[in-house]
Amino acid sequence: MHKPSSTRDYLVALLIATALTAFFSLYLFIRRGYLFDGPPTADALYVPNKAIVGAGTVLLAFTFLIGPIVRYFDRFDQWLSYRKEIGIVGGLLVVSHAIISYFLLPLKFPSSRFTFESVPFVAGLIGVALLIFLFIISFKKVIEVMDGSRWWFLQRWGLRLVILFTLIHVFAMKWSGWMKWLAQGGGKPTAELANPQMAGLGILVMLFVTWVVIVRLYESVFIFRNVGLTIKEIAMDERLKARGRCFFIGSFWILVILYALVITRWLF
Ligand code: HEM
Repeated sequence: MHKPSSTRDYLVALLIATALTAFFSLYLFIRRGYLFDGPPTADALYVPNKAIVGAGTVLLAFTFLIGPIVRYFDRFDQWLSYRKEIGIVGGLLVVSHAIISYFLLPLKFPSSRFTFESVPFVAGLIGVALLIFLFIISFKKVIEVMDGSRWWFLQRWGLRLVILFTLIHVFAMKWSGWMKWLAQGGGKPTAELANPQMAGLGILVMLFVTWVVIVRLYESVFIFRNVGLTIKEIAMDERLKARGRCFFIGSFWILVILYALVITRWLF
């Protein structure tokens, strides 16, 4: 249930966001060879935009993962108190990404590319509209005037849809490029890309998002046996909890192996 947000929770969320953005910026700096001052073919915010949206997307996916973590592992109960703040900070990063992508990358993404026939654009736009809606209804005043279970239902399905539209947005845009990189490698270094043998940040971020979606789907289908269309909360007994934990840990190790395979694909 909701709680009065404290400054401390926002500080923790901001700290995590800053650490992630800094880490992704460093990775991209090594991969690309520059951050802001790339070759004349790349906009100044081309690479920072990737770090910002990487961090925002990971935070949104993490918001979606906190529920299962808290339900399966007793010692992480306190994480629940940061969920809202992490979600809001992640959402703000993603909205900044949409603004940067639309207005500030004329060389790489001229606005003529953003049309309503473009599946990635429409999916991204719906995702951003949903995030803004969730942000508005997360204000304490709005929560107070809304029926609690209805508010919870909107938050739950809102975030699920944001993640769904994120998958459509990114997979429609990047899938063929990822498959080409996995099959043939990134080719020779160029002025825009110093180390094409390093995996793109997008593929690494989306592996995490996809794992989170699988953990949540497993929980809905095999643990709750309920997709959450009703507002009823489902009690979880010890047996179900152990099953959820087992799937969580097993699939996590598969994720780690996949990361190792992708990262080392062309590295050596
Ligand atoms: C919920 C909303 C959104 C999310 C979660 C999101 C997420 C992402 C992610 C993770 C990537 C990186 C893919 C990769 O590098 O492989 C990306 C790329 C991109 N997104 Fe979004 N996005 C959203 C909305 C939008 C909107 C509304 C626009 C347009 C105004 C947009 C424009 C772009 C562009 C142009 C790229 C390619 C950037 C590049 O390759 O440098 N996105 N998005």
